[in-house]
Amino acid sequence: MRFLVINGPNLDLLGTREPGLYGSDTLADLEATITTWAKAMNVDVTCAQSNHEGEIIELIHAFDGDGIVFNPGALTHTSHAIADAIRGVDTPVVEIHISNVREREPWRAVSLIGPACVRTIYGRGLVGYRNAIRHLVNRLAMPFETIRYGPHHDNVGDLRHGGGDLVVLAHGGLWLHHFERDTIESLAVDLARRGYDTLNIEYRRLGDGGGWPGSAHDVLTSIDHIPQLGHDYDRVIAMSHSAGSQLMTWSAERAATDIDLHVAMSPLLDLGAAVENGDVGAAQCQRLLDGGAPSRTLPSTVRNVIVHAAGDQIVPVERSRAVTEETDIELIVPEIDHFALLDPTKPHWPGVLQLLDGSS
Ligand code: DQA
Repeated sequence: MRFLVINGPNLDLLGTREPGLYGSDTLADLEATITTWAKAMNVDVTCAQSNHEGEIIELIHAFDGDGIVFNPGALTHTSHAIADAIRGVDTPVVEIHISNVREREPWRAVSLIGPACVRTIYGRGLVGYRNAIRHLVNRLAMPFETIRYGPHHDNVGDLRHGGGDLVVLAHGGLWLHHFERDTIESLAVDLARRGYDTLNIEYRRLGDGGGWPGSAHDVLTSIDHIPQLGHDYDRVIAMSHSAGSQLMTWSAERAATDIDLHVAMSPLLDLGAAVENGDVGAAQCQRLLDGGAPSRTLPSTVRNVIVHAAGDQIVPVERSRAVTEETDIELIVPEIDHFALLDPTKPHWPGVLQLLDGSS
């Protein structure tokens, strides 16, 4: 696959430009890192930067590869011409912003470019470029259908047809709106390739109608939507990560559809302990608790297996050890980190696949 990464106006100043917002890496550093990330995904990448609207339009017109990752800089908020250029070509474009444009000046929250793009990734720092490349790779890997299960723009899910049992996936990200379902997408694609149907759900998140109870309500509603997918599944399996596991554990217990197995990966189930211990995400946990979320969410009727990364820097593995000491939930502790759990090339994945196979 061949991708083009375009950085727009003022991104040539990376490294010295407002480092509190954009970091201290220069554009050359970023392009070198992007090349390494792309290579690891078997992608051949070309990087370009321009401060000129017309030049960017011509780059978009001329590129004959598979996908474009595009940070339009401030042209995001002004350029109908670039949006039209993107609409005018077949190449899928992922919009990326380093900073959290939704939490800065109100005018930055408005993107003229976004509606012409296949996805927007923002607020994740430079790693957002890696996520954007990964999203393009995953979207080009196999076709999918985005289904709607409710009225809010986040009440959607990507359905991939592998042909067999259904796996419903709920991503993590501390219920924050800048972490979306692309984070768990590589697992959805791998499972679909292996013959599972997968439904990778989105849900409302903090700052956009989510948190507690909105996010949990959405996950539950998405599961209850399964009979309307038009397929009678023998088995429905749930898979979740981090904060998504709190939503999935709560929902799987209450759903009208039977969940045969829930694989919770580095689950953030004990919000009270996270707050008490000042864990990563303690502030978000407190917001959920203020909204009435249970302090601990434990399964009682659904078979749960926890796969918790041994070197987890986000949700300490002790939290899951405490859960499994009190319940008969099975715990697997692979020697990887929190985010590696989302990568099907990592050593924990064959074990997870065996769990899914063995639950029939
Ligand atoms: C930016 C956000 C824009 O609002 C700003 O004008 C930029 C950078 C980002 O990457 O966060 O130049 O696109």
